[in-house]
Amino acid sequence: MQYSLSLDLVEKQQRVNGFLTEQLQGYKNANSPLFDAMNYAVLLGGKRVRPFLVYSTGQLLGVPLENLDHSAAAIESIHAYSLVHDDLPAMDNDSLRRGNPTCHIAFDEATAILAGDALQTFAFELLVQDPFLTPQQKVAQIQTLAFASGAKGMCLGQSLDLEAENQAVSLDTLEHIHSNKTGALIEAAVLMGFNLSAYSDNQQIKQSLINYAKAIGLAFQVQDDILDIVGDVNKIGKTVGADESLNKSTYPKLLGLEGAKQKAQLLYQHALDSLNELPFDSTPLKALADFIVNRDS
Ligand code: IPE
Ligand code: IPE
Ligand code: MG
Ligand code: MG
Ligand code: MG
Repeated sequence: MQYSLSLDLVEKQQRVNGFLTEQLQGYKNANSPLFDAMNYAVLLGGKRVRPFLVYSTGQLLGVPLENLDHSAAAIESIHAYSLVHDDLPAMDNDSLRRGNPTCHIAFDEATAILAGDALQTFAFELLVQDPFLTPQQKVAQIQTLAFASGAKGMCLGQSLDLEAENQAVSLDTLEHIHSNKTGALIEAAVLMGFNLSAYSDNQQIKQSLINYAKAIGLAFQVQDDILDIVGDVNKIGKTVGADESLNKSTYPKLLGLEGAKQKAQLLYQHALDSLNELPFDSTPLKALADFIVNRDS
């Protein structure tokens, strides 16, 4: 049967959504809006690209899907927290996310800040409680996710992104910003699938997967920048033109729209070249790379 990315995506979206719904139940508290805000931020929409990468990289290397659920949910939870905080008035000050009012508008600012904080720790709680992992595997997952999320990864990128508003940055600097704010978590998703495989000591396979992840991670943010200009609000579920109004440093701003599209295509080719080094049929990961640079949402 021919591989269908859309079917595979839907299956994995449903899988991780069901798992997240179940895992979040234990956090209900009648006296606090935190649970509702966490649910709102994680479960209302989202493409689930990072969980897909955890599952598909793991699957490629023979890891059973059950062993990947906690990791897939954990990385989506970190991603959701990063979006809640990214939208705050002090950051991008956005009002629309995933087609709905942003968390701080649907609730309030303090609740959104706390929901983000709680989603971050929820991710690590999930990893610690994963019954399918050895203690050594848990440490590997926690290490991979923590480093990618923090001051050497996503948070660093977000900070540099804010510093680069109203600045003329070089292409190298922009690549550094985008690779951290968005690329780091995408690389972590691939590594978290890899870490749980029987190949976790194979440096060659690891390097090819990292090269793939770095390429699609940067391409993902290049396409995000493009969609901020040419996207349809009903499809992207976010305000169009947000980067322009904040005078953000973006790929289209530095290279023009066509230059940015070419950059995305080049990165797509790098991604395929890296996968072609592997002795496995990596059709799903190739299809996802194609989706990343051609998506309209
Ligand atoms: C948006 O991420 C923010 C970036 C890192 C570019 P996604 O485009 O993956 O957002 P959702 O999860 O599908 O809403
Ligand atoms: C955000 O980049 C990356 C994150 C770490 C959340 P953007 O600020 O461009 O993401 P959107 O466009 O608001 O989703
Ligand atoms: Mg931002
Ligand atoms: Mg933003
Ligand atoms: Mg954006």
